[in-house]
Amino acid sequence: MSGSPVTITITGAGGQIGYALLFRIASGAMLGPDTSVRLKLLEIPQGLGAAEGAALELQDAAFPLLDSVDVTDDAGRAFDGANLGLLVGARPRGPGMERADLLEANGGIFGPQGAAINAGAADDVRIVVVGNPANTNALIAAAHAPDVPRDRFTALTRLDHNRALGQLSEALDAPVGEISRVAIWGNHSATQFPDVSHATVRGRPVPEVLDEEMGPDAARTWLSDVFIPRVAQRGAEIIRVRGSSSVASAASATIDHVRDWVHGTDGAWTSAAVVSTGEYGVPEGLICSYPVTGADGTWHVVPGLEPDAFAAQRIAASVEELVAERDAVRALGLL
Ligand code: NAD
Ligand code: LMR
Repeated sequence: MSGSPVTITITGAGGQIGYALLFRIASGAMLGPDTSVRLKLLEIPQGLGAAEGAALELQDAAFPLLDSVDVTDDAGRAFDGANLGLLVGARPRGPGMERADLLEANGGIFGPQGAAINAGAADDVRIVVVGNPANTNALIAAAHAPDVPRDRFTALTRLDHNRALGQLSEALDAPVGEISRVAIWGNHSATQFPDVSHATVRGRPVPEVLDEEMGPDAARTWLSDVFIPRVAQRGAEIIRVRGSSSVASAASATIDHVRDWVHGTDGAWTSAAVVSTGEYGVPEGLICSYPVTGADGTWHVVPGLEPDAFAAQRIAASVEELVAERDAVRALGLL
């Protein structure tokens, strides 16, 4: 990607996550110190002022890698020539709301944006959907971009992955850098399955270390009653504690997702919601979170795992929710 500037379209750029994202992208945290960036900020008319203000601040920050900033409320103009699209703009979940409530409100946003991507984005365009319900919004956008290869549409579950690392780090008293092979399966929602069955800490299997430290029964209970719900419901916890949904951690996870997609993970596992080609029995075409590695600018689902009965049941439950969301947006005419 280095050479000429990379064109990055950020939707909802005037919002909270947008504000946290823009300065890290312009600093080189996402694509590295050799890649200059051209930012295109898409907002709705009410959000233009905030996006324009952010553009002024970007200028004031004098980032050497920042080639230009363009603010618009026109999706066609925003996605014209885009190499990367970070689809953040959506309505955030408020206290007490579930993602399903947002399907109709947000579904209408992603069809026209998919069409604009289809019409004008660069041939190598890669999309990550952050706006909730992220997996299904990505599905809608992909359905409106028939000329773009399906695997260019992804949704963000890196935040869930990072949350799982954070919880394990605390429980195992080990730095996150010493923990590998954590996985998030399914939907970016409370049904997701944060899976540690293949995880290692300092090279040792996490289940074995937990058994040793807590005893097998307590370790099983901790995983099912503390770790999994804590990670899966962390978004709701953040909303409850801070009064609005996660921002800086979501932006940071978005940076991680794109960096690893573009530059690869050198064999390390991470998690991303990618289009299923039937792996692990997930219906083809759903945008489902899997353990993945990044190589050659592509996500690769980790092959050959054998989920045990508990994992298989948890994965199936989350996939069932994805199917229900797909069917709901199909019924609304959004697919
Ligand atoms: P926000 O309300 O601060 O910002 C959203 C912005 O999107 C607003 O400025 C709004 O004007 C804009 N917008 C709305 N419709 C748009 C459209 N059609 N085109 C362009 N812009 C549009 O919200 P936020 O805190 O930045 O969160 C954004 C989204 O990210 C929410 O859906 C939230 O639930 C989601 N989120 C996802 C994750 C994840 O891990 N996948 C994590 C945190 C938040
Ligand atoms: C999160 O995970 O923090 C976001 O998706 C916000 C939410 O609604 O949970």
